[in-house]
Amino acid sequence: MAAGFFGPIKPIAVARQEAGHSLRATLSWPHLVALGVGAIVGTGIYTLTGVGAERAGPAVILAFAIAGAVCACAALAYAELATMIPTSGSAYTYTYSVLGETLAWIVGWSLILEYSLACSTVAVGWSGYLVGWIQSAGIHLPPALLSGPHAGGIVNLPAVLVALGVAGMLMAGTRESATLNIILVVIKLVALSIFVAFAAPAFDANNLQPFMPYGFASHVDASGATKGVMAAAAIVFFAFYGFDAVATSAEETKNPKRDLTIGIIGSMAICTLIYMLVAISAVGAMHYTTLGNSPEPLALVLRTLGHPVASHLVALAALIALPSVILVMMYGQSRVFFVMSRDGLLPRSLSRVSERTGTPVFVTGVTGVFVAGVAGFFRLDEIAELANAGTLIAFIAVGVCLMVLRKRAPDLPRVFRCPAPYLVGTLAVLGCLYLLFSLPSMTLVRFLGWNILGVLVYFAYGRARSLARRDQAVVGI
Ligand code: ALA
Repeated sequence: MAAGFFGPIKPIAVARQEAGHSLRATLSWPHLVALGVGAIVGTGIYTLTGVGAERAGPAVILAFAIAGAVCACAALAYAELATMIPTSGSAYTYTYSVLGETLAWIVGWSLILEYSLACSTVAVGWSGYLVGWIQSAGIHLPPALLSGPHAGGIVNLPAVLVALGVAGMLMAGTRESATLNIILVVIKLVALSIFVAFAAPAFDANNLQPFMPYGFASHVDASGATKGVMAAAAIVFFAFYGFDAVATSAEETKNPKRDLTIGIIGSMAICTLIYMLVAISAVGAMHYTTLGNSPEPLALVLRTLGHPVASHLVALAALIALPSVILVMMYGQSRVFFVMSRDGLLPRSLSRVSERTGTPVFVTGVTGVFVAGVAGFFRLDEIAELANAGTLIAFIAVGVCLMVLRKRAPDLPRVFRCPAPYLVGTLAVLGCLYLLFSLPSMTLVRFLGWNILGVLVYFAYGRARSLARRDQAVVGI
């Protein structure tokens, strides 16, 4: 095992050998594109479009473009690394093989935050559409059970239930869940098409004036709210990620090289196109002050435009399909736990695979309970921002790994070669740093707290049990 400044480096050859040992190879590229679109299109576009409009005004369109451009750079870097190192664990595994164990741990710890809080965010977004849908049908449920303490309730019960339900589905087995995911993805895309079809004809250029009412840079206004195009970009960034969850399924793909390339790049391209259309349609049809901060902005736009049936359909589709995002994110989460525990950095019990379903049942259950707990009691935008912070760290690591590996091992075969790797890698790293520091300072403080906890866990547990540290005999990339 080679040793770098940041601890042992797991040789790529070793990481490759580990692939496919315990998890069954059942997926191919159509599953992965569906997995990608399933993870990418979700609460980000369905709900955070409103939060983004509140922070940036009509320039939320620009915020989507900026976040999308940064994610596109990260996606290219991911695709090159995922096809070179086709094992579960994505950014964590790449960092382990390129930079060393200590940094890999920090990335893995950030991925845990990303995936689990993204699941919680989507669960809360789902609950927003459910409550809006039920109320517009004239049914009234006890409000104390429909939102967390921050909004005057006790617990967001719908969010808790959807999180636990999805965890149960995943525990039943990857294959069935992935197939169901394809159906849900279709529903979700049809709903967004319906939204654009009804909202686009109501486009009014006056709604785009002033285009950038709060300026470009992220700043805190007199009321204490974070505003600006970059503040919006830092939150709607949430809408774009998820393609990295595809990379985490590398060990379960039949032909990782081809399937991962198509899966990551394809799903990213499709989603970027859809978002641009939806965002322009939304802020063009309704003034941003009305759109901002609605828990179900797309349904609100259609209702306000006088299309109650279309509004119901879009909300219903969100209800049926948003769980697919939780499904993919939770899948990615359990796989990261799986790989980290297989490396000895977390307890081995987390990597136990069920003989019947071939999936890591125990860790999925633990993840489901955590996700449900957060979803039940915390605020949507705050959870999303913290998930974004974790994701941004992972993307930065991937950009750095891409460039370091090009320099260190230029001749290693690459199935997918990222174009202009140093430019793309630098843009990914700088773009993610800019987004990270555009998040509210409270989010950054919480994120720092999470990482301090992580470093303590590493030094108290993982470092001493790391298999890579024990095995210093194997050398090389
Ligand atoms: N991109 C995913 C969503 O928007 C996480 O829900």
